[in-house]
Amino acid sequence: MKHETFHYKSLQDVAERATELNAYLPLSEDVGALLSPFELAGRRIDNHIAFQAMEGTDGTEDGAPGEKTIRRYDRFSKAGPGVIWFEAVATVKEGRASAHQLWITPENVGEFKRLTDRMRENCLKENGYEPLIVMQATNSGRYSKPHGYPEPMILYNCPPLEDTPWPADRILSDDQIKRFEEAFGRAALLAQEAGFDGMDLKSCHRYLICESLSAFTRPGEYGGSYENRTRFIKNAYRAAQANVRGDSFFLTSRLNAYDGFPYPYGFGIGEGSMEPVLTEPIRLLKELKEEFHIPLINISMGNPYKNPHVNRPYDHGNYVPEEHPLEGLGRMMKGLMEIHEAIPDLPIIGSAFTYLRQFSVNQAAAMVENGACSLAGFGRMAFAYPEFIHDLKAQGRIDEKKVCITCGGCAVLLRAGIPAGCVIRDREVYQLPSAD
Ligand SMILES: Cc1cc2nc3c(=O)[nH]c(=O)nc-3n(C[C@H](O)[C@H](O)[C@H](O)COP(=O)(O)O)c2cc1C
Repeated sequence: MKHETFHYKSLQDVAERATELNAYLPLSEDVGALLSPFELAGRRIDNHIAFQAMEGTDGTEDGAPGEKTIRRYDRFSKAGPGVIWFEAVATVKEGRASAHQLWITPENVGEFKRLTDRMRENCLKENGYEPLIVMQATNSGRYSKPHGYPEPMILYNCPPLEDTPWPADRILSDDQIKRFEEAFGRAALLAQEAGFDGMDLKSCHRYLICESLSAFTRPGEYGGSYENRTRFIKNAYRAAQANVRGDSFFLTSRLNAYDGFPYPYGFGIGEGSMEPVLTEPIRLLKELKEEFHIPLINISMGNPYKNPHVNRPYDHGNYVPEEHPLEGLGRMMKGLMEIHEAIPDLPIIGSAFTYLRQFSVNQAAAMVENGACSLAGFGRMAFAYPEFIHDLKAQGRIDEKKVCITCGGCAVLLRAGIPAGCVIRDREVYQLPSAD
């Protein structure tokens, strides 16, 4: 299939193409729904826009925020999203995705605290309110590169992800998994001390917890049945809950509702089809809500390494996907709606809103209006054009000359383990490495 890139001149053009493709793509002319304040997790949230977790690979060797990290969160917080989902922060050194991924420790927690204070001050000064800030705690599992080269820790060999199976010593034992559950507990203590409002036990994009949810083929306590596959996430929550003080700091997750790999190698899929089957993700969400009182959930899909078109529909990438980008958006929007209908009292942050460029806010507004999302989460757009929220407030639309063009440059930088940002709109600071 020839890849059709973004060429829409009007909302009408987008709607017509979505209809032809049978993609579920609600769109609203009026973006007002994004800009009204509301209550969430006991706080007043100014608007329905979230900045998604966007890793910058720009921490110091010891895991503290570096100069570029601070610059990035200055830009994010001045822009004024209702929620800032602070990027992946490692819970253990061996689970860092790069030698410069943030990693919270008792030694550097003060530097994280200075950054959250600074983000609140920035937002208050620029916009008159504070954002809700959630720290994403991670163990990168099979994508760990703590010294800059792969040192994977996997739960099971997964043929769709491996040309050659990893040797047995790369497969974590049940005891090693238990140690990592405890590390999420220690991270919760530190995240609270660092001034975050809550902590995300990251369960998306095939990092370690996410991988456990599809460990159908793993023997023992952490594989096979639904109960075993959800043991890691629930024990990690229990460890975190045991360390949290008071009741204003909350726990939550960014959860993959669908991995995009065939059964038995993916979560949110059934046998014999590649269509999402959300029975287990919905069951898990109900259980997390019941036992851990999660006040919101951040939903994502896909794998940024193997099927990035599912995770972040794009115009330019390493391969040309079989599906049209609007079909990818449709899958995400349909999944969000299905989860909302199954658990209407669980506020959802949706993902993958950037693709539609200047019309992304129309899609976001429609998803907020129809109730499927409490917040629309923007990833790549936050790198390219964080101040789009100001333009939206001032003019009711955003500037097509400033939007993300889904070129994939930021992901290239991230994968190369060098500081990531927008190589188009912020090119004085970020450039692609030269070919030689
Ligand atoms: C450079 C880069 C860094 C990212 N870092 C994270 C991260 O730390 N945690 C996470 O959950 N997702 C991360 N993502 C995924 C984004 O949060 C988001 O899900 C994805 O870009 C799709 O949303 P968008 O269409 O708004 O860009 C990253 C994506 C990119 C391109």
